[in-house]
Amino acid sequence: MTTVESLSDKLFKELDKASSLKQLEEMRVAALGKKGAITDLLKNMASLSLEEKKTYGQQVNALKENFATALEEKKKALEAKELEAKLQSERVDVSLPTVGKPEGKIHPVYQVLEEMLAIFNQMGFKLAEGPDIEDDFHCFEALNFPKNHPARQMQATFFMDGEEDLVLRTHTSPVQIRTMENIKPPIKIVAPGRTYRCDYDMTHSPMFHQIEGLIIDKTTNMGHLKGCLVEFAKAFFNVEDIPVRFRPSFFPFTEPSAEMDIGCSRENGEFKIEAGKGWMEVLGCGMVHPNVLKNCGLDPDEYQGFAFGCGIDRFAMLKYGIPDLRTFFEADVRWIQNYGFGALDVPNMIRGFAAGVQK
Ligand code: DAH
Repeated sequence: MTTVESLSDKLFKELDKASSLKQLEEMRVAALGKKGAITDLLKNMASLSLEEKKTYGQQVNALKENFATALEEKKKALEAKELEAKLQSERVDVSLPTVGKPEGKIHPVYQVLEEMLAIFNQMGFKLAEGPDIEDDFHCFEALNFPKNHPARQMQATFFMDGEEDLVLRTHTSPVQIRTMENIKPPIKIVAPGRTYRCDYDMTHSPMFHQIEGLIIDKTTNMGHLKGCLVEFAKAFFNVEDIPVRFRPSFFPFTEPSAEMDIGCSRENGEFKIEAGKGWMEVLGCGMVHPNVLKNCGLDPDEYQGFAFGCGIDRFAMLKYGIPDLRTFFEADVRWIQNYGFGALDVPNMIRGFAAGVQK
């Protein structure tokens, strides 16, 4: 007959030797299960006296409890050991070099911005900057948008929460005002930057980029404006007979005003410069309105000049054949690998602008 002591002896010896969680589980079932060895011990009770039954029952129960606790402890120890082994086997040496050569890319918007600035710089324009968060005066009022004028609605403005007077600039034109407030003519600047409007489709994104241009002196006229922008387009696209047209337009801050379109086609997911297919508007321009000059403390009888504002993103779409503007800002790594530029493709007038052609 198996005694409590001999079974206890046997079970604890086996438990000592157990080396896997699987073994432990088998042992638990074999000892404590319905038909297990400890449960079996109770069958011996029948032949015992009442007094003996009491002590025997207590011994069996004590063994049951002790063995269950010992199993649990062993289980914890084995689990910790297994985890440690797993961590060791999956250990990563972070000091090893990465697989393949990690390569960052320049976003096409910034590539194109550099290309555009290099050309304007060559034409004698200096760089100017202004804040993304503008006040009403610089964004609208000084640019001859009277309060409640319908032209303000054309701009789909984002207003700053709880700030009556502050907006996310809808265009880079406020930099014209800031420049004329601070510098005496002659002025010849370009001002690139982010702009914001509540707009979203193939050719509009709520955040986009513009370059503003401004020339103020005593003689610059509409002919200079046209010559400057056509020459710019030829240099930028590297196309001598680029299809360009100027359409009469309206902006409160210029008179007369025009828009420049570039001939393009959008076929089979391909977007390219082409005459006779369609047009894409790329910039607004005109002669600076006398009221704007006055608002900046300049005498319109003495000074005159032109201004223009172009969408950088649209120039990027046209030059590099990217059909949908929204993809620019989706931060998809595959997109940037395809349309991005190498860090050393720095555009300049000597190497040319087509140097960093899309890869
Ligand atoms: N600020 C205008 C816009 O975003 C673009 C523009 C038009 C700028 C004519 C100019 C200009 O400087 O003369 O719609």
